Amino acid sequence: MAPQLRGCYEAVMTDRALDITLRVNGEDVRERVEARTTLVDFLRETLGLTGSHIGCEHGVCGACTVLVDGTVVRGC
Ligand code: FES
Repeated sequence: MAPQLRGCYEAVMTDRALDITLRVNGEDVRERVEARTTLVDFLRETLGLTGSHIGCEHGVCGACTVLVDGTVVRGC
């Protein structure tokens, strides 16, 4: 099942990192990530949520699909 992201999002860039705030599957999350981190990499590697996968990494295959405020988006 694709992770569901809801609520308000905040991203503050400092140097090459971003301090992000979001809600994932009902849990508030605040993390510092590299600016080039994809959403699917963040979900899988930082949060351990492996429901979305990395496939083509070009927005074609849909393996990285997540729901953001109920809308299907690509995580890559
Ligand atoms: S990995 Fe294929 S669309 Fe994102």
